[in-house]
Amino acid sequence: AAIVSKGEHTTLTISVIMSIIAGLCTFTTLPKLKDTFIKANLSGRDVLKPSKPLLPETLGLPTAIIYLITLFLFIPFPFINWFEGANVVHEQDPHLGTFPYNKLGEILSAILAIQSMILLGFADDVLDVRWRYKVWFPAIAGIPLMIFYYTNKGVTYVVMPIQLRPYLGDLVDLGPLYYVYMAMLIIFCTHSINILAGINGIEAGQSLVIGLSVIANDLLYVFNNPDRSSVEAHLFSLYFIIPFVGVTSALLWHNWFPATLFVGDTYCYFAGMTLAVVGILGHFSKTLLLFFIPQIFNFLYSCPQLFRLVECPRHRMPRIDPDTGLLKCSTVRPNDKKPMGTLGNMALKLLRALGLLKVFQYDNEGRIIECNNLTLLNLVLAYFGPMSERNTTVAILIIQTIASLLAFFIRYKLVHLVY
Ligand code: UD1
Ligand code: MG
Repeated sequence: AAIVSKGEHTTLTISVIMSIIAGLCTFTTLPKLKDTFIKANLSGRDVLKPSKPLLPETLGLPTAIIYLITLFLFIPFPFINWFEGANVVHEQDPHLGTFPYNKLGEILSAILAIQSMILLGFADDVLDVRWRYKVWFPAIAGIPLMIFYYTNKGVTYVVMPIQLRPYLGDLVDLGPLYYVYMAMLIIFCTHSINILAGINGIEAGQSLVIGLSVIANDLLYVFNNPDRSSVEAHLFSLYFIIPFVGVTSALLWHNWFPATLFVGDTYCYFAGMTLAVVGILGHFSKTLLLFFIPQIFNFLYSCPQLFRLVECPRHRMPRIDPDTGLLKCSTVRPNDKKPMGTLGNMALKLLRALGLLKVFQYDNEGRIIECNNLTLLNLVLAYFGPMSERNTTVAILIIQTIASLLAFFIRYKLVHLVY
């Protein structure tokens, strides 16, 4: 049976064409803006090159603006059938009824959330906001989305795994906690991309792989699923993620090693928010989290430093060996003023026991005093380094791709064991 209507096919085709144009626009615009950004002091040193060149930063802003313009212009197309006169269309397409204002509201609220995130991300790039404040930025930007969710259908129950059903029932209503979950998902998606960063091509690269995985997952649904409402949810996701992949590819081209520009925190926030929005409104937030396995690992691994059990320097990116030009993992030593506490030491010992830590120096009592910084990048380099910067990016993107394949395996094969 034709689940995807002819009108929807047309809309998808238009989305693809607009996304290609958006990508080409981004590709040609970014180089032209480089001087403007440097003049405005939006720049940073590429510290992993021997000459440490000054590169324009925050080029994620024009990228995100082109994305927004594309979506603005795209807004009418999902409703293309309603323009032709409702009665005539009604006979042609049994799915059509009165104009779906809720669908329009959904699209507008999603755009508003992404746009707010871009604004706050830019504020962070310009003002270097402190972590204790900026942690909450994504939750603030997500408010329009959650309000829409509440006023639309506001499903707040979750399906329980088979093993828990005898105790908790098939469905458990999380109520207000569901909104806490959504806020946490948004906060996680945005910041986790920002902290898996520091080498050329990594922020845009990981976002591209996740974006492509989301498209693959959407297409599997749209063309294989008899359930009309989930088809619509995944079409919605496609309308947002295809242009995202378009502009991100162009940005990645310029940010790839050796980078000619940096994406900035604006891009990381924009990317995280776009992915979170499609995950929430497309009703596949758990599958989305599977695509974020490397980011989840990087976050958990970083926790001892993020929560200051272990000293956390301003920058944790790898180090360059000036003789070979290859990257090695960067290390951390406890601050003289603030020696590492017992908890920090326990965390490090646990990581070492798990084989997730390279120790460079112990003190007389056998306590760890120098080890690699706790990021996925440094861990990869600790095991497989020294490596060139390009190969390190490729290694991380391979890990990201393997994670996506694993995600599909879990989502479509193992899922029957629990749902
Ligand atoms: C996050 C990380 C930080 C990491 C930084 C790198 C945490 C808690 N924070 O901080 O450890 O060092 O990202 O982006 O994990 N840069 C390069 N080459 C690149 C990309 C960035 O040299 O390919 C440097 C540039 O000097 C650039 C700066 O990193 O100006 C950007 O850092 P910023 O995005 O401000 O750091 P955070 O996101 O705060
Ligand atoms: Mg950053």
